[in-house]
Amino acid sequence: MITMDNIIRDGNPTLRARAKAIEFPLSEEDKKLAHNMMEFLENSQNPEIAKKYHLRAGVGLAAPQVDVSKRMTAVLVPGIEDDDEPIFKHVLINPTILSESVQLAALGEGEGCLSVDRDIPGYVPRHDRIKLRWYDLDGNKHVERLRDYPAIVVQHEIDHLNGILFYDHINKEQPLTVPEGTIILE
Ligand code: NI
Repeated sequence: MITMDNIIRDGNPTLRARAKAIEFPLSEEDKKLAHNMMEFLENSQNPEIAKKYHLRAGVGLAAPQVDVSKRMTAVLVPGIEDDDEPIFKHVLINPTILSESVQLAALGEGEGCLSVDRDIPGYVPRHDRIKLRWYDLDGNKHVERLRDYPAIVVQHEIDHLNGILFYDHINKEQPLTVPEGTIILE
């Protein structure tokens, strides 16, 4: 299983590389990686397991974060109540944003990242709505529109595939000034 020891941290060059597209059919290795990445997110959101293995809770994990420079990311946005179905739970292979809203949005609390150990305050402006295309493990194409929190999580993850970290988007001079045209999601 993936634990925090397998997650590389800011400063490792893999986090700044552009990850390579994945070819189908997926190798057994890639399938296993996909499974392990989603399992990590599930474990990290389970209070007992997370405590036992010292996992930081996460809603997304991209392959470059476990030092695999491939275009794969797991996303698990849980439902509001404990027993609700997840809002978005998929392993995305070769994800692409087909279109995006002009409207920007940022999380009121800022963002965090399993690969960044320190808190970095500041608004991270992203597109409020996206049209996302990805392939699943069997090579089936999916297209879905996302908005607000799930859209932001997916943009954070796709950034990882392009060597970008969330704090790159924070205004260095005025991190806590709401960027123009940006709605704040609480
Ligand atoms: Ni991250």
